[in-house]
Amino acid sequence: MSGPAYLRRILIVGSGAREHALALALHEHELVIAPGNGGTAQVGRNVDVAVNDVPGLVALAERERIDLVVIGPEAPLTLGLVDALAERSIAAFGPSRAAARLEGSKAFMKDFLRRHDIPTAAFAVFDDAEEAKAHVRAAGRPLVVKADGLCAGKGVVVSSSAEEALDAIERMMVAREFGEAGATVVIEELLPGEEASFHVVCDGTRAVALVAAQDHKRVFDGDRGPNTGGMGAYAPAPIVTEAVHAEVMRAVVGPTLRGMAAEGAPFRGVLFVGLMIDNGTPRVLEFNVRFGDPETTVLVPMLDGDWFELLDGSARGDLGGFTAGTKPGAALAVVMAAEHYPAKPTTGDRIDGLDRAIRAGAFVLHAGTRLDGDAVVTSGGRVLTVGAYASSLAAARGLAYEAVSGITWRGEHHRADIGHRALAR
Ligand code: AMP
Ligand code: GLY
Repeated sequence: MSGPAYLRRILIVGSGAREHALALALHEHELVIAPGNGGTAQVGRNVDVAVNDVPGLVALAERERIDLVVIGPEAPLTLGLVDALAERSIAAFGPSRAAARLEGSKAFMKDFLRRHDIPTAAFAVFDDAEEAKAHVRAAGRPLVVKADGLCAGKGVVVSSSAEEALDAIERMMVAREFGEAGATVVIEELLPGEEASFHVVCDGTRAVALVAAQDHKRVFDGDRGPNTGGMGAYAPAPIVTEAVHAEVMRAVVGPTLRGMAAEGAPFRGVLFVGLMIDNGTPRVLEFNVRFGDPETTVLVPMLDGDWFELLDGSARGDLGGFTAGTKPGAALAVVMAAEHYPAKPTTGDRIDGLDRAIRAGAFVLHAGTRLDGDAVVTSGGRVLTVGAYASSLAAARGLAYEAVSGITWRGEHHRADIGHRALAR
């Protein structure tokens, strides 16, 4: 290894704004990103290996003499990338394949919550479509139908009628719209309340909580229109009061870490608890075993601590010496999307105004972009995440939208109301 002792060689796996944000958090080190995007190419070296190519990623890490692999998306985690790297003694930030089942199988996750008495919506699991339909008919009230496996965020139907729930069962279990991921479904009660994204970085036994964030999943202002991967985020989320935070640590995070360890799959990496909070009571909607996107874009500027030490401590199973806090102030980020996102985004449009935005003090994170000579062009649905960190949420919002207004391409759209819940309080 060349350079000073603290300089590490890090491989970041993924290609979204989340991975660009992590690259900036780790920019003092030598970075390789697989496959990366137009933004990560400016902080490190992109190598074109796909996130699902486990042997290809292991070979890349060996060839590049990588000290730490930081894995962004869930797919390689559920495919066992961390286990494959461990066989070659390469440290990786993320859970083992067995621990990644907390996200990879909703039936496993719900049964785990039940076994360990962790608060969540009441549910039943079905692998027979007729039995699932009979359950919906007997309930006679709106329910939530979830495909068991990974469906890139599309496998959840929050129904408003029995017909809608029956149709979801037909599409998932009979038509197999999501393939094997829909062979088993979880049907659960609709929970009232407000959502929050709660991230804890874990080393198997200990957990470091990051500031609570909130995402905006619907494509249009006022939380209307179809679900997306997320249209914007901010932190801190005032719905997560000190009391709610303490309750999540006591009733969710503690029992989850103890339960996973007791079941032989201690959890390392980041556990992203999707919460529904009703009258101060938090319940688990879902677990993700990776950082949220766009949440990461606001978590990165809010951490008062060293990102390498945090991720490396988790990967090595020792966060004992890690100390960090949350900065004062707030961060807010807006996703700028391509025409027709989320249905069928148009790509190949030239983006203008990027330099102007960065000069204004904002951060500009790339997702669906690629470099085309000197130009940056769109190459995906969520194109950029543009945000700011400032002394207050209102100030961060002002800076972020000022930067957004300077960036243009044909067909660009974004939400104008990111942070509305917190700002209305
Ligand atoms: P999930 O992928 O499980 O987080 O579900 C996607 C979205 O569906 C969540 O972010 C919620 O907005 C909604 N959702 C999921 N489960 C429930 C539930 N039990 N009650 C109400 N909304 C839910
Ligand atoms: N922003 C939600 C997610 O990353 O799943």
